[in-house]
Amino acid sequence: MKGFLCFVLTVLLSDGINCLLLPGKDYGRLKSSASSFSHSFTRARRLPIPTHRVIDPIEDCFLVTSEEGELFFKSASDEPSVCGIYMIADPDKRIQVTFNYVDVPCENGGLVAWVDGWELNGQVWPADAWDDDRVVESCDRRPQRKLVSHQNAALIQYRVPAQGKGFAVTIRHFRNARPCNVMLFGSEGVYTLRNHGESGNCSVIAVSPAIVRVLDLNVGQSLKRDILDMETGTIHRCTKRGLQDYVEIGGASGLDHTKMEVLDSICGLDSKEGRRPAYIACEDTVVRLVSTGQYHNSVTLAFSPLPMEDIEHSDLICGLNSL
Ligand SMILES: *[C@@H]1O[C@H](CO)[C@@H](O)[C@H](O)[C@H]1NC(C)=O
Repeated sequence: MKGFLCFVLTVLLSDGINCLLLPGKDYGRLKSSASSFSHSFTRARRLPIPTHRVIDPIEDCFLVTSEEGELFFKSASDEPSVCGIYMIADPDKRIQVTFNYVDVPCENGGLVAWVDGWELNGQVWPADAWDDDRVVESCDRRPQRKLVSHQNAALIQYRVPAQGKGFAVTIRHFRNARPCNVMLFGSEGVYTLRNHGESGNCSVIAVSPAIVRVLDLNVGQSLKRDILDMETGTIHRCTKRGLQDYVEIGGASGLDHTKMEVLDSICGLDSKEGRRPAYIACEDTVVRLVSTGQYHNSVTLAFSPLPMEDIEHSDLICGLNSL
């Protein structure tokens, strides 16, 4: 699994980061360091056991970690390169980051930024729940706010163009009683999306192509709990039928799931297993639950990796329509 995530991210990130969230006049210079940046991506690796760990400024410019612990960074040069610590936890967890110290001069665009979500190639996740509160920037001193993510993925971006300067953070994972947007490690696992009777949209994104099977569906049916509802079976193309609560299955070419390509929108009450799974050949596989708040909706999904040889006869191949 670790190897797989590493592979996925390597493929994903080979384009390099578009450092959208870090303001500054140094974009020209940032671009010039892009090649060394992509170089780091191809060697993206996960931390082993970083209870206390020093970030290697060259090897770890792009770092993905699913671990808790303390991380130190000390800049090796005056280069204004932007790096990131991409944190991911189990689906039912939130991520808390504490800056133990920040010794990053604000001159030349020095900056550390907490991002409540992920940003990659100019796209943010979760895009439909985004607001300015999700980004906290700081230099010279520690961010004054408590930094806890809404979902199981978060990011620290930093630019320290001053040799010997740096920062230290402690990463902790806490239980999330009501996960809404969830990022999956690789493309494997079973996950249930629920609206808890509330209005709004929740989603699962797997950062890889995947096969998605709906194991259980209860969307747009149950007004109250504990009532025995009639099985309607799976209803397809629910948005075309004007039904307001539905599940969209599809994929996206990047983290922004609001730009997803939809294979089908389904709803109804169906507890039978063994339906035909959807083969999604996209950079990211996305399932979205849209809820008006009138119903108690839930959908249980099984994700598995899409084998290379199945890509060409997939149900959805992203980007095909724009060719
Ligand atoms: C939820 O999704 C629907 C359909 O895509 C959209 O119209 C609506 O604005 C979304 N709601 C929120 C709170 O993002």
